[in-house]
Amino acid sequence: MKIPEEKIEEVRSASDIIDVVSAYVRLKRRGKSYVGLCPFHQEKTPSFHVTPDKQMFYCFGCQEGGNIFTFLMKTEKVSFVEAVKTLANRAGIELPVTESNRTESTQHEQLFRANMIAARFYHNSLTQTSEGEYALEYFRKRGFTDETIKQFGLGYAPRGWQALINHAAEHGLDAEQLEKAGLAGKRDDGSMYDRFRGRAIFPILSTTGRVVAFAGRQLYDDDTLAKYINTPETPIYQKGKLLYGLSMTRDDIRKLEYAILVEGYTDLISMYQSGIKNVVATSGTALTEEQIRLLGRYAPAVVIVYDADSAGSAAALRGVELILEKGLDVKIAQLPEGEDPDSFVRNQGKEAFLDLIDDSTSFINFKASELQKQGLFTTPEGQTQAVRAIIETLAKIPDELKRNFYIKAIAERYDVYESTLHRELDSVLRKQHRRPRSFNEQRRTVAADDTSSEPAPNDKPANQIESFSSAERDILKLLLESDREVMEFIFSQVTPDELGNTAARSLFEKLFGLYRSSGVFDTSSLINNDDFSEFSSVIVQLLAERYEVSERWEELRGFEEFPINMQLAIDAVRTLKKWIIKQRIESVRKNMRETEKQGGDSIPLARDMQILQQELKLIDQHYASLSKKPM
Ligand code: GTP
Ligand code: MN
Repeated sequence: MKIPEEKIEEVRSASDIIDVVSAYVRLKRRGKSYVGLCPFHQEKTPSFHVTPDKQMFYCFGCQEGGNIFTFLMKTEKVSFVEAVKTLANRAGIELPVTESNRTESTQHEQLFRANMIAARFYHNSLTQTSEGEYALEYFRKRGFTDETIKQFGLGYAPRGWQALINHAAEHGLDAEQLEKAGLAGKRDDGSMYDRFRGRAIFPILSTTGRVVAFAGRQLYDDDTLAKYINTPETPIYQKGKLLYGLSMTRDDIRKLEYAILVEGYTDLISMYQSGIKNVVATSGTALTEEQIRLLGRYAPAVVIVYDADSAGSAAALRGVELILEKGLDVKIAQLPEGEDPDSFVRNQGKEAFLDLIDDSTSFINFKASELQKQGLFTTPEGQTQAVRAIIETLAKIPDELKRNFYIKAIAERYDVYESTLHRELDSVLRKQHRRPRSFNEQRRTVAADDTSSEPAPNDKPANQIESFSSAERDILKLLLESDREVMEFIFSQVTPDELGNTAARSLFEKLFGLYRSSGVFDTSSLINNDDFSEFSSVIVQLLAERYEVSERWEELRGFEEFPINMQLAIDAVRTLKKWIIKQRIESVRKNMRETEKQGGDSIPLARDMQILQQELKLIDQHYASLSKKPM
């Protein structure tokens, strides 16, 4: 489907990139832009910038960048058209529908659609059919209200082997497509069957709230398969990368600045129903780094609620270390023997649960009590060993200030000298630091002190920009940044052939063409403009660069009555013009040397040289008069 350009514009201007990105990244305001941890690569210090002015994003760590549409395309792995549709939906803008739009939808979209159709079918089977009554009764017995059942889209998969397959066929969805979505299986003879049969259904949603998979819980005694069966992994469902419930709970998590981590679907649902809504569930699998990173986008802290049994605490302990390593704070809340969060909140209520959260303990106390259970702490040697084990965990915290804080706490609690603990910590850290630093950390260091002539690792064409002269860079940047007056000035002063770098020249030409045909353009629209596709990363880099020096620009702004961009444009154009002359001077000088060496007459060349020198002065004078400021 081709969406008309003006519709795309309408959607763009109705959407706010900060809003959209905030659903994925915890953003903090810094000057004119917002920064956060990059969703496209792993990092501990934020290098991901979003600029509301330009409605663009850029990561200095991995060099991903673009506008609101590319952001969605990259995070949700959808096509451009789908990204526009999603945002249009949000903004309540109607897009023209055409027949061809089905063929254009990506493979992912087909999977989303299959899951959507299945989710509706299961929910209907639960609430509208007589076969579903048993399951509905089951959910109600568990204390789920009708509203909860609706909110979580709970369902029932009928017992027949082809219930979903037959239903999907009515929507033009064949069994092969269901199989791709993990909803149907194929027998050796080629015949197909529903994966979920006679089960209570929990739809699993992506962070943005699209159904990507299902979990089916056993209902009937004659069902001998596992208690829960899940959709297998598909291109849109990787279980280690999402957290159950997050799409519904992320706003509360952001507001309360911490997330409660539980294990089960029913735990999360019961807590949510009770009014504790800042919860996510791992769904029984071990917590992964990706899940922690995901959580870290919404809150800086996690409270793990775990069952008293030993498997529960072992799992919690592993989770703790991973969470600390990712720079988040973590606490542990312990449930009474024999309870899980679902039963506890139903039996004791919301307030009791919140008390439990208030009583949650630091990882130090948690680890200490685990070690105590193992019988350490009864001897001085045991205590030394225990403290050492705690320090091992402490060393995972990347932030030195936080580590020092905990050192104090441990020293007090176990009556050991802080200095002893510091020594212990240093030795653990030294061991760890022998590990090579991650690629991105290395790259960032190179980029940060870019005074060395060493080129940055060149794994992306985005680094094209490195070959631009600074005047070329400034001129292009200003064209992308500025208003009509500045553009007109630049286009009136500079011709494409004055730009020496091929890529810079070609981008300049394209911008000039666009300006001539349609006047001042919206920079963020260039990212999806086919004519500019080869330049998209150069464009975002050019824009992002400014954010780095913007503080200096801000400084300047206070002293100038003259529009700052105009001032910078004048400077850039002057530099470019002088640079061209200087190159000519250089070649004349070389020529003179050659001529003299061969005993020829260099006087005409010397005269050329004089003229060129004169020209340099004239350029300075000319642009100085324009800029009305002393040079
Ligand atoms: P209920 O028994 O219905 O209350 O579920 P629960 O969530 O309390 O189950 P449990 O505490 O046994 O397990 C916690 C989570 O682990 C579940 O929500 C599932 O995500 C997962 N899980 C448990 N059993 C299985 C299983 O047999 N297979 C799979 N794939 N996951 C399971
Ligand atoms: Mn349970």
